[in-house]
Amino acid sequence: MTIGSTQSGILWFLLVLISLINKSHGTYVDIKDLGAKADGCFDNSKVLMDAWKKACSSAEPSTVVIRRGTYMVGPVMFQGPCKAPISVRSQGTFIAPVDINKLKSQDGWIIFQSIDDFTLSGGTFDGQGSEAWSKNDCAKTGKCSSLPINIRFNSLRNSIIQHVTSRDSKLFHMNVLSCQNLTLRRLTIVAPENSLNTDGIHIGRSNGVTIRDSNIKTGDDCVSLGDGSQQVLVEKVTCGPGHGMSVGSLGKYHDEQPVTGVTIRDCNFVNTMFGVRIKTWPASPNGLARDLHFENLEMKNVGTPIMVNQEYCPYNNCENQAPSRVKISDVRFKGIRGTSSTKLAVQIVCSRGIPCQNVEMTNINLVYTGKDGPAFSQCANVSPRLSGHLLPPACTAKS
Ligand SMILES: *[C@@H]1O[C@H](CO)[C@@H](O)[C@H](O)[C@H]1NC(C)=O
Repeated sequence: MTIGSTQSGILWFLLVLISLINKSHGTYVDIKDLGAKADGCFDNSKVLMDAWKKACSSAEPSTVVIRRGTYMVGPVMFQGPCKAPISVRSQGTFIAPVDINKLKSQDGWIIFQSIDDFTLSGGTFDGQGSEAWSKNDCAKTGKCSSLPINIRFNSLRNSIIQHVTSRDSKLFHMNVLSCQNLTLRRLTIVAPENSLNTDGIHIGRSNGVTIRDSNIKTGDDCVSLGDGSQQVLVEKVTCGPGHGMSVGSLGKYHDEQPVTGVTIRDCNFVNTMFGVRIKTWPASPNGLARDLHFENLEMKNVGTPIMVNQEYCPYNNCENQAPSRVKISDVRFKGIRGTSSTKLAVQIVCSRGIPCQNVEMTNINLVYTGKDGPAFSQCANVSPRLSGHLLPPACTAKS
C-alpha cells in the first residue's frame, strides 16, 4: 500500500508530536514492566531498585511510575546522585514488613538520598507499625534506634515531596536530614494518638525547608525541628492528635548546630497535648535557638498552647540538674487564640543560667475549657515584651 500525501502528512505530524512529548517528559520507567507485583506479598524491593537505577542513569529527566495497587516493599534506598532531574510518581500503596528484623539493614524503611531536583508525587507508605509500638521501650532506655523511620530524606537539594501519605510508621514518619531547599506539601500523616514516638516530620541540619498544606495526626510531635534547622517555614498545617510542634529538643548532645529562622504560621492545633513548644535539656552544652516566629495559630482544646521549657526531661531520667546552656532569643508569639484543656495555657520557663532574650507576645487569646477557674500563664527567667490583647495576662504566676 502506498502512503498518500495527506496520510504521510498526518504520520509526520504524529511523529513530531510523539518526539515533543518524549522530550518534555523524558524517560518513563514503569515498575510493572520490570516485574512488580501488587499482590501485597511479593517483595518488590529489587524491582524498585532496578527501576530507580535505570531512571537515575538517564541523561534526560526521568520518572519512575508506580501504578495503583498494594506493593510489599522491604528496606529500600533510592540513592543519587542522578544524571538529570528525577521523579517518582506513585498511585500505589507500599506496605512495610511487620517484622522489624526484616528492616535491620538500614535505619529507615524507605530512604531517598543524595539527590538534586527530585520530586516524589503521590503514594501511600504504610509502615504497619502497631506490633512495633507494643515493643517500643524508648521510654525506659531513652533509645529507639532499633526501630525504622518510615521515610528518610537525606541530602536532597531543590526537591519537592507532595501528595504523599504516611501511615502507622514504626517510629518517626519522615526524617529530613542535611537537605537544602526542600518543600513538603499536601502530605497526610496518620498514626493513632497512643502510638509511641511516631513524630510526623523531624527536620535536622537542613536549610530552606517548607512544610505546607498538610494534615498530621499522630502519637508524638506533628513537626519537630532538631539542631541545625535553618530557614524553616511551616504553614497551613493541621496538627492533632499529637504533641504539637516543637523546636527541639536541643542540648542533649555535643556539637549541636544552631536553630535559626523558624516560622510557624497559619496552623491549626486540635486536641493536641501542646501547641508550639521550644524545649531544651538541662545541663546541656552551649547551644543557640534564635529568630523563632509563631504567628496566627488556632488552638482547639490544646493542653498547653504555648510553652518554652528549658528544663525538658522526659521520663525524669536526667541526673544533672544544672541549667540549660542553650541560648534562646528573638522569639515572637503573635495572634495565638482558641481554647486550652489545662489551666496552664502559657508556660515560658527559660534557663536560669542563660535567660531568654527578646521574647515578644502580641495578641494572645486563650480560654480554658474547664469550669474550675480561668487559664493562667507562668514565666521564669524571661521578661517578655507585651503588646495588644493578652489573655491569660502574661506571667500571672511566677515560678
Ligand atoms: C528550590 O527548589 C525548587 C524545586 O526544585 C526550584 O524550583 C527552585 O528554583 C529552587 N530554589 C532555589 C533558590 O534554588
